[in-house]
Amino acid sequence: MDEATVANPLRAGLRMQRTPEPCAVVIFGATGDLTHRKLVPALYDLQRERLLPPGFSVVGFARRDWSDDYFRETLLKDARRFARNGVQDALWESFAEGISYIQASFDDPAGYAALAQRLAELDEQRGTGGNRLLYLATPPESYPTIIERLGAAGLAHSPNGGWTRIIIEKPFGRDVASARALNAQVHKVFDESQVYRIDHYLGKETVQNILVFRFANGIFEPLWNRRYVDHVQITVAESIGIEGRGGYYEGAGALRDMVQNHLMQLLTLTAMEPPVGYRADAVRDEKVKVLRAIRPITPELVDTYTVRGQYGPGTINGQAVPGYREEVGVAPDSCTETYVALQFFIESWRWAGVPFYLRTGKRLPRRVSEVAIQFRAAPLMLFDAGPLSDIDPNVLAIKIQPDEGISLRFDSKVPGQVNQIRPVTMDFRYNASFGVESPEAYERLLLDAMLGDSTLFTRSDEVEASWSLITPIHAGWAAAPAPAFPNYEAGTWGPRAADAFIERSGRKWRRL
Ligand code: BG6
Repeated sequence: MDEATVANPLRAGLRMQRTPEPCAVVIFGATGDLTHRKLVPALYDLQRERLLPPGFSVVGFARRDWSDDYFRETLLKDARRFARNGVQDALWESFAEGISYIQASFDDPAGYAALAQRLAELDEQRGTGGNRLLYLATPPESYPTIIERLGAAGLAHSPNGGWTRIIIEKPFGRDVASARALNAQVHKVFDESQVYRIDHYLGKETVQNILVFRFANGIFEPLWNRRYVDHVQITVAESIGIEGRGGYYEGAGALRDMVQNHLMQLLTLTAMEPPVGYRADAVRDEKVKVLRAIRPITPELVDTYTVRGQYGPGTINGQAVPGYREEVGVAPDSCTETYVALQFFIESWRWAGVPFYLRTGKRLPRRVSEVAIQFRAAPLMLFDAGPLSDIDPNVLAIKIQPDEGISLRFDSKVPGQVNQIRPVTMDFRYNASFGVESPEAYERLLLDAMLGDSTLFTRSDEVEASWSLITPIHAGWAAAPAPAFPNYEAGTWGPRAADAFIERSGRKWRRL
């Protein structure tokens, strides 16, 4: 037994190694930020945990004129910063032996011929057995070209009975029509079973735990419905701004960047019915059903059910920060939203009449994400609680990050001779219970894709269903007069209109 197991009985029996078959990962857009900050550090950490197969190889594919050595050097520099526990030199050396680079533009057939040859060599020299995981980490404009060229070069299917899978990064489309078109392009070359659309929120431990919490425990499910739940609040708050990504963010905004993918994932996992098994299609079938049951916010209804905002200058953690319109790459009169709040209704027997409030924003006071289930108040207040009391309904808060855990709030008597009532919480914290660091989302997702498990990836119908709820909101906003932006100061909890929005139904945002 390792030390962690001995020290922590809650981890006893948890060691379960899942090692994929030998394979090569090909990263398109290998010189970019995602590869350096997330993908390669995650692969290195998998190697450190001995979860990668022997002969594991990485082929970078990008336009810049880099050598194998230079590519490895830049990866090492960033792995030192972004791997979970830094880098051990000896381990890096053996990991880096399997890394190489191909310089080519994404539309150049010669680059794909070189790639085919490199992969054949790896099969021969490192025993990768024809198994390939292709990763599109480029700007989305390049996806169709790369997919088409991969098909033309015969790289969509493996020789020698190996497997080929493709991971496609977000954003997958920018509205329902483009998502459909992209799905059609993908399906001309790849079968859906080969396609892994990534949403890194599904790789987070706390997000996966929503299903375990709901379906491995018998006591919550009977309460998880319209009879007991008053409403649900899903918040993903960030204190960062757009981090130099003005060019991308101007065309995206918070609704595309966060709601269409990450918040909708949190919503579907919270609201779905129990699947018939923990299998990719069974889980995804239930998620799609939730999306289909959501009443669309049609363009005429955007004023009633959505609020958008954009930050102006302000202060975060004592530091003055510029407004969105002052960021590099942003138009001085930009109408792109950096904050959204919205209300959905799920028209199902379980959820009819229960509002789901979603909110996300940049430059809010702190980074905090949670799903909060607020239960109905007790039907009758027996206690003459007195003016010092502070009675609140029960809330179950699933804390996604940064203080990962789950807490249940209930009212309790303050010790003393009078009936004074105060809310208290019962808390579960990952750190305290498990005493180990959670893996990074990308580690889990890369490993799952190598193992052929697509449960935590988005299926084609799911991505289209999600866009079909987002596109009418954009249409409504586009038809409305230009918003009076900026309408919230950086370092505050969003526009005032967002408070008025939830208060209309007699509810209020949770203080986080
Ligand atoms: C990305 C968005 O998908 O998610 C970013 O493009 C955002 O704008 C990020 O900052 C948030 O991810 P996390 O894991 O830090 O919550």
